[in-house]
Order: sequence, then structure tokens, then C-alpha cells
Amino acid sequence: MSDLHTIRLHVNGQPHSCAIPPRLHLIDLLRDELGLKGSHLGCEHGVCGACTVEVDGRIVRGCLTLAVQADGAQVRTVEGLSDLPDARVLQQAFVKHNALQCGFCTPGMLMAARELVQHKPDATREEVREWMSGNYCRCTGYHAIVDAVCDVLAQRHQEAAA
Ligand code: FES
Ligand code: FES
Repeated sequence: MSDLHTIRLHVNGQPHSCAIPPRLHLIDLLRDELGLKGSHLGCEHGVCGACTVEVDGRIVRGCLTLAVQADGAQVRTVEGLSDLPDARVLQQAFVKHNALQCGFCTPGMLMAARELVQHKPDATREEVREWMSGNYCRCTGYHAIVDAVCDVLAQRHQEAAA
């Protein structure tokens, strides 16, 4: 059909070629076309962060990003975090601090937290709160999530000092 655009992208290291409507959002491509349901869809207008995924190394809102914008990109979803040592440390910290209950927000939280750990390793607790404030959680009250991220930052400082 003439109104479909073919894009090529890598998702969690796997190559894909997809013929898609130009208005399809990245989160819908990932969930509905590629079957990667780990990233969630909440508000659908850029507020809650449930749809957070990584495109070429930086996090984006999957509900605000058109899939065609990811043509040629390296995309990572929460499914692609499981083999990464730094993501595993974050997952363990979330478990240790009870930083998830229903888990709906957790994929987006982990994506946001990983970017913070990578790009702001010296973040203060206040800066962690500010950074993570773009992701909503209805269950935990946020303190446990901030505790988990701060724990990982502290671990990294200890490792660097050893
Ligand atoms: Fe994308 Fe809420 S579903 S920010
Ligand atoms: Fe339920 Fe965050 S754990 S929304």
C-alpha cells in the first residue's frame, strides 16, 4: 500500500524491516508489531513515562515518538536490559528496596534510572528525585525507587574508590 513506509531498525540487537503507517507511534510498533510488551502504555501523551525506551542511547517517550523517526536507529526496550550487567544491578536494587509493587511503571523506571546512572553518576538524592520525576508510579510513593537508584550510585562510587 502506498501509505506505508518501510523502516529498518535494530531492536535489542535484532534487525527488523517494517512497513508501517507514517503516524504509527514507536511504542505501538514495539508492542503490537514486534510483540515486545514490556514497555507499557499509560497516559499516551508523554506524561507518565511508562512507555520509556531507548533510541540510539538516549531515552525517549515511545508514545510521542513516531516509529518512522526510529528508521536506522538502535532501539532498546526493557526486554533488552536483562543481559546488561548495569541493568541487572538496578533490577536487584529495585527488588532489595521494594521499589515495585504492581510493576506497571517499572520498565520505564528502569530505563530512566539506567540513563541517570550512565550520565549523572554523581547525582545527589535531590537530583535523582528530579530525574525520576518524569516517571509516574501509583504504588510505591517513590521513596523506595529513589532509595534503589541512590544505592546503585553509592555502589558504583565504592567500586570506583576500591
Ligand atoms: Fe507515554 Fe505515558 S504512555 S508517557
Ligand atoms: Fe505500580 Fe509503580 S509499582 S505503578
